[in-house]
Amino acid sequence: MAWDEWVRGPEVEPSLYAADFSRLGEQIETLLDAGARIFHFDVGDGHFVPPVTIGPIVLQWISPVVHRAGGRLDCHLMVEQPERHFEAIAKAGGDSVTFHCEVAEDVGALAAEARGHGLGVGLAFNPQTDPQQAADVAEPVDLVLCMSINPGYSGQALMPEAFGRIERLRDRLPDGKHVQVDGGVGRDNVPRLRGAGADLLVAGTSIFGEPDIAQAYRDLAELT
Ligand code: DX5
Ligand code: ZN
Repeated sequence: MAWDEWVRGPEVEPSLYAADFSRLGEQIETLLDAGARIFHFDVGDGHFVPPVTIGPIVLQWISPVVHRAGGRLDCHLMVEQPERHFEAIAKAGGDSVTFHCEVAEDVGALAAEARGHGLGVGLAFNPQTDPQQAADVAEPVDLVLCMSINPGYSGQALMPEAFGRIERLRDRLPDGKHVQVDGGVGRDNVPRLRGAGADLLVAGTSIFGEPDIAQAYRDLAELT
């Protein structure tokens, strides 16, 4: 499966939503040079989450830059009816889509549709959703994303209950399934998130909010 080829071990994924969009390409190059390989790309529709964020139009410009260096684009779909976007994301160079279990009536059918477009597949769940509910339907996906904030915006603090929720999720998944965490991830909580069982750590503000983003990435990567 695609994700198993991309993941070298525990990965810190810079979340581009927190980037300086006037310097997006330059910041991606800086992070590629620092060792980042999987970039998190947040698509929000103004319905499932309040803001409209970024989508295929931005993706098509950055995907060649990321792919040239052997990197991947992990697209987090904070949207209703995620299947409406799979084709456009694949065509724009997205490598994987993660949709939310709160809007997925049939995870197997959605996963099959995404894979038909050559995409990897993730399943996300919100802080109000029982980890068991996601684990129960996770068989067809590569990763399960435990949100540690209410999705929508970068820069929020991690909810402390996330540690226990990740543990519960990890216990309920087979060993090969990746566990991702997104929201408020930073230097003060990465070791504990790893201990709880997360191997894919999405980090926005804790990288792009620092004066030296390469160093911030490396500091987080070292902590994993
Ligand atoms: C927002 C997004 C996150 C966001 C994380 O809901 O899903 O990926 O960019 O940003 P930080 O790391 O600042 O919480
Ligand atoms: Zn995200």
